[in-house]
Amino acid sequence: MSERKSIHGEWSSGMAFFLAATGSAIGLGNIWRFPYLAGENGGGAFILVYLACIVLIALPILIAEITLGRRGRESPLNTFRRLALDEGRSRAWAGVGFIGMLSGIIILSFYSVVAGWSLEYIWLSLRGAYQGASADRTDQLFSMLTSSPWQQMFWYTLFLALTLIIVARGVRKGLERAVWIMVPLLFVLLAVLVAYALVVGDAHAAIVYLYSVDFSRLSGHAVLLAMGHSFFTLSLGIGAMIVYGAYMPNRLSIMRAAISVAVADTVVAVLAGLAIFPLLFARHLPVAQGPKLIFASLPAAFGSLPFGFLFGAAFFALLTLAAWTSAISIIEPVVSWLVELGWSRPRSVLAVGSVVWMSSMLIDFSLNVWSGITWQGRTLFDLFNFVSSDIMLPLGGLLIALFAGWVISERSLRQELRMNRGALRLWLWVLRYVTPVGVLLIFLNALGLIRGAL
Ligand code: TRP
Repeated sequence: MSERKSIHGEWSSGMAFFLAATGSAIGLGNIWRFPYLAGENGGGAFILVYLACIVLIALPILIAEITLGRRGRESPLNTFRRLALDEGRSRAWAGVGFIGMLSGIIILSFYSVVAGWSLEYIWLSLRGAYQGASADRTDQLFSMLTSSPWQQMFWYTLFLALTLIIVARGVRKGLERAVWIMVPLLFVLLAVLVAYALVVGDAHAAIVYLYSVDFSRLSGHAVLLAMGHSFFTLSLGIGAMIVYGAYMPNRLSIMRAAISVAVADTVVAVLAGLAIFPLLFARHLPVAQGPKLIFASLPAAFGSLPFGFLFGAAFFALLTLAAWTSAISIIEPVVSWLVELGWSRPRSVLAVGSVVWMSSMLIDFSLNVWSGITWQGRTLFDLFNFVSSDIMLPLGGLLIALFAGWVISERSLRQELRMNRGALRLWLWVLRYVTPVGVLLIFLNALGLIRGAL
């Protein structure tokens, strides 16, 4: 067991760790991204592949990240350096922490734009802005929003400010206190919204659409999307779970914690579809709209259903809360690193916040004034959204798996995990062989280098 202490503080209990890590995992990924990915890529078949990715690739890496973090007890970058030196290996491993911080900044810059839309939709719902509107009209409403750089800026700036305030207050007073309130509230809201959708919506059509398995609709590219999403949804590949692990008390079981987080996250992803699709089907609204799904189509459903404005506001409040407890975990790796360099926490937060804010502006403008600038038909928004999760996160995750599986000695891992020998060996075997090979095969398959196998 590690004797080290984190200079940033510790979670006060196992529950605090669970809420923080679950709050990180459950985010726009579960409620905004997963439903449209599953919808567009073959419903049930996509979900099955995604579940396989969670169990064989993402969960082993989640366990590895928490273990590394708790052993190093520093920001991801310094944890890599310290653990590599402990094992007599190259300090260049710190580079993995560095790439992770860059990925985090890229992710948060489009993440905050989407979270900003969500904040604005709480306001629009309460104002009744889409009451009785047709799907064409709500689609237009959304286009108007994204085509105005300043209006959009107002909302993501607000979202970023809310995120930064929490992180500036530190682990106990900021992060922990926030998740104690927000994560339980998130579960309550989700339960209410699923119940509502099942009662007033077309549950049957939604279940057929989401869960019927048809492998012919699944492409090699869809398998890559499922894998990338498994990293995104469990907050892997950038060090977020490493830093949350660094604040985890020694007495807690890492394995149990990791499994609870993965289960909670998966349940929420699967339930989120049930809060959305029954409403769309009840109103015969377009369901395959990619990133626009819940902003362009869903309001048209809420706008014509009983108490829709209220449930609509609750839906976007749920989305905002989920995004908020995730955003804090995306910048914590960078903030903790700056604090270790000797900066004060508020100053670190301000520095990271400014960089993210400026790069959010790029995303913002890519949707309006610079929408003509594309690369292979993709705007900067699409590129950030896909490149980060489908390339950078799996790459980061692969390096983390190799580091934990091959660089750290089994003895060190056993000291930190303190679990039954058989279970440890099984995990380590999956982490060493199955996870890296899985990631590589999926990459190659998506690049079209191997055919027929998947
Ligand atoms: N998991 C979050 C979601 O599903 C997003 C997130 C939080 C994240 N921290 C992360 C994604 C770190 C990648 C890396 O919305």
